[in-house]
Amino acid sequence: MAVIVDPLRGRTRPVASHPDAEIIDVLTGDHDASDWAVLTGAGMSTDSGIPDYRGPDAAPRQPMTIQTFLSTPEQRARYWARSWVGWPRMRWAKPNAGHLALASLPVAGIITQNVDGLHQAAAEEVGSPSPVVDLHGSLDRVVCLRNGHTFDRDWVQEQLTALNPDFAALTGLDPIDVETAPDGDVDLEETAHFRVLDCPICGGLLKPDVVYFGDAVPPARVDAANRICEAASGLVVLGSSLAVLSGLRFVRASAKAGKPVVIVTDGPTRGDDLATYRSTSRVGDFLAQWASRGIQGDTERLLP
Ligand SMILES: NC(=O)c1ccc[n+]([C@@H]2O[C@H](COP(=O)([O-])OP(=O)(O)OC[C@H]3O[C@@H](n4cnc5c(N)ncnc54)[C@H](O)[C@@H]3O)[C@@H](O)[C@H]2O)c1
Ligand SMILES: [Zn+2]
Repeated sequence: MAVIVDPLRGRTRPVASHPDAEIIDVLTGDHDASDWAVLTGAGMSTDSGIPDYRGPDAAPRQPMTIQTFLSTPEQRARYWARSWVGWPRMRWAKPNAGHLALASLPVAGIITQNVDGLHQAAAEEVGSPSPVVDLHGSLDRVVCLRNGHTFDRDWVQEQLTALNPDFAALTGLDPIDVETAPDGDVDLEETAHFRVLDCPICGGLLKPDVVYFGDAVPPARVDAANRICEAASGLVVLGSSLAVLSGLRFVRASAKAGKPVVIVTDGPTRGDDLATYRSTSRVGDFLAQWASRGIQGDTERLLP
């Protein structure tokens, strides 16, 4: 007998509350795009080839916590070795149709839990006016934990390559071919000999400028995100399981303020009970429809 593997691994399959066309009526009918705050997660970038953590195809893995990173030099060597291997693929990821469609909508603001910089890349391509808050930071920057010096990730990558000239050959890895995990980390064990770079200015520990699991989001970023949500008439969540509290809090706040919450994610989310409108479509498909309707609306207003 054939074995049927449940792609959601036993989790409750989400159900759409309305057809997408009706949800988009709500987004565009009495509202402009600028009335909506948007919260995005890893599902936004899966079409760019960056895997998510909790989608049906995601490999089970234990992301490194800040406590583990700080615990020993071996853990930091492990992190940096894997990150060094994973960076090229992350670096060259391109915004997908969903990022571009969203960038074409002048929303109140995009609060992203992603660390891949793809909303900014899309905004550059399309000329988007929407502010973007990188809630969890960005992998293209590296920060010194002693004095806050920051460095460009490409420069750090070059230094690491120079410090570890034989590493790729030793492990038999071609950085481009390695399976890259969501945060730019990769599956790779023999990392103990990887030489890590310390801050060239003060000797402090260097860490990618991202919020690790177990770490807090800087208050200024939470404030910026709150301001966007408070000024907006409602919140649209795109491709997030909302498993992480730092994202879920905006859903809770919007629901508490009596504002509509739209959740578009193909897997179950921790905010499903709070959603006014729930779509289980792919975010790219949903955004293509929203953008075409949004732009149509604008054109109609422009006609005499
Ligand atoms: N691209 C990135 O920068 C990246 C990627 C993975 C994880 N992370 C980090 O890990 C945390 C993960 O939490 P999360 O909630 O963002 O992601 P998650 O992996 O927990 O959830 C993603 C959800 O999106 C759904 N999904 C995937 N592709 C989709 C698509 N094309 N259309 C609709 N739904 C889709 C999945 O089924 C899943 O339910 C984040 O806080 C983030 O910092 C970042
Ligand atoms: Zn420093």
